[in-house]
Amino acid sequence: MKRVLFCFLTVLINVILFAQADTTPTPQWRPVYHFTPAKNWTNDPNGLLYLNGEYNLYNQQNPFENFWGHMSWGHAASTDLIHWKHLPIAIPENISGGDTTWIFSGSAVYDKNNTSGFCKNDGCVVAIYTAHSPNRRNQSQYIAYSNDGGKTFTNYDKNPVIDLNKLDFRDPNVFWYEPGKYWLMTVVIPDEHKARFYSSPNLKDWTLLSEFGPQGYTGANWECPFLIQLPVEGMNAKKWVLVISAAGGERGVFEQYFVGDFDGKEFKNDNPADKILPLDYGDTYYAAIPWNNTPGDKKIYTGWMIPNAQPTYPWRGQMSIARDMSLKQTPEGYRLIQKPTAVITKNLDGLSANIVSVVGLKLNNEEINIDKAGKIKGNAYWLDATLSVQSNAVAGFKIAQQKDADGKVINETIIGYDAASKQVFVDRTNAGGKLNENALKRIIDVNSSTIKLTILLDKSSLEVFVNDGEAVLTTYIYPGEHADKIAAFATGGSAEIKNVKIRDLSIVGK
Ligand code: FRU
Repeated sequence: MKRVLFCFLTVLINVILFAQADTTPTPQWRPVYHFTPAKNWTNDPNGLLYLNGEYNLYNQQNPFENFWGHMSWGHAASTDLIHWKHLPIAIPENISGGDTTWIFSGSAVYDKNNTSGFCKNDGCVVAIYTAHSPNRRNQSQYIAYSNDGGKTFTNYDKNPVIDLNKLDFRDPNVFWYEPGKYWLMTVVIPDEHKARFYSSPNLKDWTLLSEFGPQGYTGANWECPFLIQLPVEGMNAKKWVLVISAAGGERGVFEQYFVGDFDGKEFKNDNPADKILPLDYGDTYYAAIPWNNTPGDKKIYTGWMIPNAQPTYPWRGQMSIARDMSLKQTPEGYRLIQKPTAVITKNLDGLSANIVSVVGLKLNNEEINIDKAGKIKGNAYWLDATLSVQSNAVAGFKIAQQKDADGKVINETIIGYDAASKQVFVDRTNAGGKLNENALKRIIDVNSSTIKLTILLDKSSLEVFVNDGEAVLTTYIYPGEHADKIAAFATGGSAEIKNVKIRDLSIVGK
C-alpha cells in the first residue's frame, strides 16, 4: 500500500490533510462551466466515451469523502461538454471477503461489433481499468461491461486480463486500431518509466507488442498514458503522439508528449530520447485522456486539474475544458496544438449572459477597466483578445481584481506579454487563496509580435490559451468575493488591444 501510493501522495499529501480538516463551504469557487462532482473528491478522468448523443465522463471519485480514497468510477453525462448531469457511481470499490479492490484509472470503449461477446444488444460498453489491491500489493488490468449504455457495469468473471504480479502497473488506455483490426492498449509500469503496448481481438486476451521508455521526463513515476494519431494542421498528414503524466518530481505536476510514428507494433520517437516536450505550462493539468467514439472521430481530450493547497468544500478537484488536439509543423519539429473544443466554441454566444467587446484600445503606461458598465459579474467568463505590444513594453490583462479605497491591490491575477523577454506570463502573486508557492509566476516563451490570448476564468479555475492553442497554461486562483474587475494594462511603453471580447458564462450553472 505504502509504496503504491507514494508518488500520488508526495504530490497530494498537503492537499489531503487540508481537505480532511476543512468543511467550510466555498460556493464562490465552484466552477459553473467546468465539471466538478456534486460533492467529494475527484481525480483523473476515466473512460471518456461518446455514446448515443452524450459525452460520458467517468472519473476517479471517492464516493464518501472529500479526499482521495475508496477509488471508484464516478459518472456524469453531457450533450455539450458544458452542462453536466450527475449520475450514480458506475463502478464502485469492490469489497468482498474482508478485502477491497479499488477501481483505478482506465478507459472505456464502445464494442460495436461485440468482439468481446459481452454484448446483449448491437454493441456494449467495455471499461478497461486498473484493479488496485492494497492488501495483495497488486495492480492488474481488469475489464467490466455494460449493457445499459454505460450506467452500470459487470466485472468479467475471469479478471484480471493482464497481471504482471506487480505493485505498480496501471492506467490502461484502449482504442480500436483500424489498420491492424485489433484493440490497442497503452499502459505504464510507473516506477520503470515504461509504456507498454498490447493488442487484443476481444478485449480479454492481450498480447504484448512492445515497450517504450525510459525517455523524456523521468523525474517522477509515469502515469495515465495514451497513444493517439493526430492531424497536422494545414497538411494532408498525420503523426502519432504518446502522452504521459508524471507528478511529484522537480517539475511538480507535469504532463509530457512524444511525437513519432506507430507501425502497429512499436512507437518510434521523432526526437532524441532526452527531449522533453511539456503539454501545459501551469501547475495543475494532469492525467488527461482522449474521448473515444466521438462524432467524426474528432480528437478531443480532457484533463484533471489537480488541486492547489486551498481547500474547497463540498467538492475537491475538477476537469479542464475539453480540448481539440492537433499538431503543427514548426522549425523545431511537430508541436501539439490544443484549443477549447469546437463542440463548445460553436455555441459560445448562445451560452453567454452578456458580451463586452472593445476594439482598438490604445494603452500607454496605464491601466483601464474594460468593463466599465459592470456587465461581466462573478468571474465566470471566456475572454478572447488580440494584442500588439511595443518592444520593451509589458501589456495584457489584470483579472479577478479588487483594490482598496487607496487603490492598493487586494487581489489580482496578471496575464500579460513581456515584449522584451518575449514571454507570456501568468502572475498569481496576489491572486488569492493557498497556492503552490513555487508556481506563483509561470512563463511561456512566445516569439511573435501579435499575441492572441483566450482566457477561461471559471470562479477558481483558470486556463490561458496562447496564439490559437500553441501553448496552454492551466492553474487555479481563489479571489475574494468582490475581486471581479477586469482591466487592460501596459507598462514600460505602449500597446494596443486590437480587440477583446468577453462572454459572461455565469448563467451556465443556473
Ligand atoms: C493519477 C493516478 C493514477 C491512478 C489513479 C488513482 O492521478 O495516480 O495513476 O490510477 O490516480 O486514483
